[in-house]
Amino acid sequence: MTKPFIAGNWKMNTDSRSSVSLAEAVAARTTGLAGRQVDVALCPPFVYLGPVFRAVGNSSIAVGAQDVYFQPDGAFTGEVSVSMLKDMGCTYALCGHSERRHVIGESDELVNKKVTAAVSGGLLPILCVGELIEQRKAGRTTEVVTGQVKNGFAGLSAEKALAVTMAYEPVWAIGTGLTATPQQAQEVHALIRELIGRIYDSRLADEIRILYGGSAKPGNAAALMQEQDIDGLLVGGASLKADDFIDIIKAAV
Ligand code: PGA
Repeated sequence: MTKPFIAGNWKMNTDSRSSVSLAEAVAARTTGLAGRQVDVALCPPFVYLGPVFRAVGNSSIAVGAQDVYFQPDGAFTGEVSVSMLKDMGCTYALCGHSERRHVIGESDELVNKKVTAAVSGGLLPILCVGELIEQRKAGRTTEVVTGQVKNGFAGLSAEKALAVTMAYEPVWAIGTGLTATPQQAQEVHALIRELIGRIYDSRLADEIRILYGGSAKPGNAAALMQEQDIDGLLVGGASLKADDFIDIIKAAV
């Protein structure tokens, strides 16, 4: 059994005050739990990474970025590098979140470059995959997720792949209140684990954590976490409320 992992993706929400108070509340109310029984990460907007890192202080809450660019430095206006994120205290970075793929237009190839750059620079990527509703309805979930996983890991050695956390986030469940049933999620998680086993080996497949994301909330967290291949949750909306996020953390242990 791997240690459960709960990550909060704040997306483009909070401000300088609320980001700090939310981080402080989560840190203060999960002592003894976070880092010991469950790994917890907060992914605030870039501009609040510094304040949130200071707010979590020496608690065991990790800080992650919502995105990262693959180039080390230079003329890439608006982008943020791996070393900048490390410098601000980040442990993780989301790569290929569905909003980056489908709203901003990131390709599998770009996502792979981000994952590769993150791992090489010592930042732990959380590689997000998931199908659109039309793709699910057309029976293409396996094909879509398989492509995203294979392309996401392309060129990564087994040693580097071990640094990756996977997140299965069916796009139709994100921010919609429509959660995948635990069985629907489990099916795709099992597929992802099998794929990793085929690309690398079964030991690596067993060790890599696979999070579920998409309208995770206190009311469904425990049931989702009970599934064999669900090792944690990537929480959007419910991570913006300290009470809800803390309840989800507690439901994971
Ligand atoms: P949600 O978002 O929990 O609000 O559905 C999850 C995510 O996009 O990571």
